[in-house]
Amino acid sequence: MKSKILIIGACGQIGSELTFKLRELYGAENVIASDISYSNLDIVNSGIFEIVDAKNYASVKVCVEKYKIDTVYLMAAILSATGEKYPMKAWDLNMESLFHVLNLARAKFIKKVFWPSSIAVFGSTTPKEYTPQYTIMEPSTVYGITKQVGERWCEYYHNKYGVDVRSLRYPGIISWKTLPGGGTTDYAVEIYHKAITDGFYDCFLKEDTMLPMMFMDDAIKATVDIMATKKDNVKIRSSYNLAAISFTPKEVADSIKQHMPDFKMTYHPDYRQEIANSWPKSINDSYARQDWKWKHQFNLKDITQEMLFQLNKKYKASINESK
Ligand code: SER
Repeated sequence: MKSKILIIGACGQIGSELTFKLRELYGAENVIASDISYSNLDIVNSGIFEIVDAKNYASVKVCVEKYKIDTVYLMAAILSATGEKYPMKAWDLNMESLFHVLNLARAKFIKKVFWPSSIAVFGSTTPKEYTPQYTIMEPSTVYGITKQVGERWCEYYHNKYGVDVRSLRYPGIISWKTLPGGGTTDYAVEIYHKAITDGFYDCFLKEDTMLPMMFMDDAIKATVDIMATKKDNVKIRSSYNLAAISFTPKEVADSIKQHMPDFKMTYHPDYRQEIANSWPKSINDSYARQDWKWKHQFNLKDITQEMLFQLNKKYKASINESK
């Protein structure tokens, strides 16, 4: 029998691209996209779509039963910057949704769960360079707290109830199809949009703020790979460190200037600087590379080339459409 997949939070930055990829790999009829609203029409109109409220156990369960789902990707979350504005909302969404999915797996309605964690699980007392898998973790954002607690619960559900839950600590993800929302690493996406529309970007982080980053294609590959690998290969059931590259805002600006010499950047750090300061500069992901053969592909030069190319095409197409 073919696996039936449900993506919760399919309209978001990672959820949307994951939906497209999973439909391509496993057949559109086997991949059900869901979200709290119809906020991404490309997703809503390109396959099966359901409204699911991740905070509501019954809402998730009804959808799981309706389509005989066996695998859930829980991509709904409030990220770091928005979480600082609405701490209780972030706590409620990020934790309740995880419990609902873990409990559905514990009750054997579903067999397999993917749940993303983040570099936000680390804090200012964590070693910053080449941060190890096992290290001090004292997250200072509500988002980071939810992810760290969530990791503990994932491991607990695996050890106690045999739940097959798999997880990755995503770094900042760069993509051109869907905008990110409410994160601290979002500057690394906005900068490409603004370079094309305005030739100028005012950055909310300082020029030398080094953070771990990854191109969407690599993030999707890691997600698909960890879910496809044999159960025994997944030795870490909290969440795997995952890395590709690290760069600063100035380095992105310089790489854009290679293509657009007139591009200008200014820096006005806001509350997100403090969040970025508490996170690692680079990540040691040797367990992922060892256990299920993770390997990234895209460096900053590749990312800049692809982002500028795709976004140029997208903006030109939308100008033509509005004519
Ligand atoms: N991209 C996320 C954020 O900035 C980190 O996981 O909040």
